[in-house]
Amino acid sequence: MTSSTGSPHMAAASCGPARWPMTIQTRSSGSGRQPCRMRRCGRRSRTGGTWTSWTFSWVPGEDDIKLSDADLRAEVDTFMFEGHDTTTSGISWFLYCIALYPEHQHCCREEVREILGDQDFFQWDDLGKMTYLTMCIKESFCLYPPVPQVYRQLSEPVTFVDGRSLPAGSLISMHIYALHRNSAVWPDPEVFDSLRFSTENASKRHPFAFMPFSAGPRNCIGQQFAMSEMKVVTAMCLLRFEFSLDPSRLPIKMPQLVLRSKNGFHLHLKPLGPGSGK
Ligand code: HEM
Repeated sequence: MTSSTGSPHMAAASCGPARWPMTIQTRSSGSGRQPCRMRRCGRRSRTGGTWTSWTFSWVPGEDDIKLSDADLRAEVDTFMFEGHDTTTSGISWFLYCIALYPEHQHCCREEVREILGDQDFFQWDDLGKMTYLTMCIKESFCLYPPVPQVYRQLSEPVTFVDGRSLPAGSLISMHIYALHRNSAVWPDPEVFDSLRFSTENASKRHPFAFMPFSAGPRNCIGQQFAMSEMKVVTAMCLLRFEFSLDPSRLPIKMPQLVLRSKNGFHLHLKPLGPGSGK
């Protein structure tokens, strides 16, 4: 992990359109499905049946069993964990990254200021315009994935391309953190390089090279919401404060269910002025 400002592990940042394309569209992570997938197409629950909306409407399936209190508790726990601890981790590591790389912080802030103008609130459409902020959020997800590993139990044997195989019943871990720092997948994986997430560069990569929200049928149901939440919170923070490191208390990575810091996040916040931060 890079640990100081001015580290060589930092790609040059420039806010000018000549150095990063202003026309980049927000790239949806993972499967590229639309937001509110539950409402659009329903989703099988771990307990059978189908969730049909964010308001927990329940349409019984043919083979449906009733939800017990324990089932309901499990679903609520999943949402509380997946929807809360993950974004807390994501926001914390993002703020650490922009404190570590002030050039990128400056570019993100300038972009948000330009989009908001004199307003001190967001329109929904504004979120889609925050292309550079989105690239930096994705790069911080890449270096510090909030969910560093996911686990699966194989329901059938799997044979890999090199001929090795795993038997049914194996408990396996997909190590997202290691994938994102694999130099066979990512050139200079420890460099903070937001341009990895330009539309052009992202399109050249394998679709599963970047999977902070996992992949496949049990990928993150809240990923679009999470990206919006990340953008709103970080944009507001950028407008109000300038972030810098406390070099005596750098975060110590602690991979648990989410990627935490053993000693917390200690950053200096300099107020930029009321409201817009100008
Ligand atoms: C930065 C934020 C987030 C990250 C990095 C993240 C990441 C993930 C990952 C990696 C999984 C797959 C776990 C697995 O395969 O075992 C997952 C599942 C899930 N996420 Fe998220 N998540 C985030 C935010 C959210 C939010 C905001 C919500 C809800 C509002 C949410 C709801 C869920 C749910 C319900 C699942 C389980 C889906 C299933 O099992 O079918 N997540 N998330």
